[in-house]
Amino acid sequence: MSSEDALQGPRRRPARAMSASRLGAGGALLLALGALVATGCGEVKGADNANLIAGKKAFVAKCGSCHTLAHAETKGVVGPNLDEAFRASIEEGLQRSTIRGVVEEQIKIPNPEGAMPKNLVSGSTARDIAAYVEKVAAAPGKDSGLLATAVAPAGSGKPAEEKNGKLTIPASPTGQLAYATDKATATAGSVTIEMPNMSGVTHNLAVEAGSHESSGPGPVIGHTEIISKGSSSVTVKLKPGTYTFFCQVPGHRAAGMFGHITVK
Ligand code: HEC
Repeated sequence: MSSEDALQGPRRRPARAMSASRLGAGGALLLALGALVATGCGEVKGADNANLIAGKKAFVAKCGSCHTLAHAETKGVVGPNLDEAFRASIEEGLQRSTIRGVVEEQIKIPNPEGAMPKNLVSGSTARDIAAYVEKVAAAPGKDSGLLATAVAPAGSGKPAEEKNGKLTIPASPTGQLAYATDKATATAGSVTIEMPNMSGVTHNLAVEAGSHESSGPGPVIGHTEIISKGSSSVTVKLKPGTYTFFCQVPGHRAAGMFGHITVK
């Protein structure tokens, strides 16, 4: 699949994802295990003691930049929407426990022509992620209890404040398509905006005048380089008013990776 196709969103291949041959013997075993598992394991531990909290955190960090999954509040669009990918099969009576095998298999053996890197995670992390996806894919409602607070809401950090001409707006270290905060303040004049990005997802920070959610009328008055695991900065001249900062990597702004700077 070309990366262009991958960017088009959900791929029409649920049949492969769900086929018994793809699940293999492991899938059959998982089905059998699923049937034996007692109910009442609580919110946090999955059917076979997979750690759902760790699974959710790892999903957001390693998978969410490419996949939408409503419960995890991820909005990536490079790969298929995982709620949609599993919804039809679940409605047709697929056992939820089957999903786990599909996800673990996909992590080990993604489509070689697709944009999904092989072995992004391994061992217990892969198991935890798969258990979390099994629990929440296409499920109604929201995560509750400890799962609800496992990952802080995107952009909910303390507002960034400019000091001595310097403003630091980190990309979310969790791998969310968000900055650590969606609010910043600055005094008019020349301001250097630094964007540390400790996540493995590539981002930059661009600034345009005005307050827009989606691609604004714009003009971009400055932007940092696109980076991961590092820091990049840009110096812009700000006048009193409101500016929008956002990520220029395709799909990121639409997923909510933007915020506003109030300049006094
Ligand atoms: C760089 C982007 C990217 C990342 C990161 C990524 N994926 Fe994917 N994923 C894709 C693409 C593109 C496809 C479709 C092509 C393919 O099957 O390999 C896909 C397909 C899938 C499918 C199959 C869905 C279907 O309809 O068949 C599952 C399940 C999946 N990914 C789960 C994950 C999980 C779990 C992670 C994290 C460990 C992850 N992905 C990380 C891009 C990504």
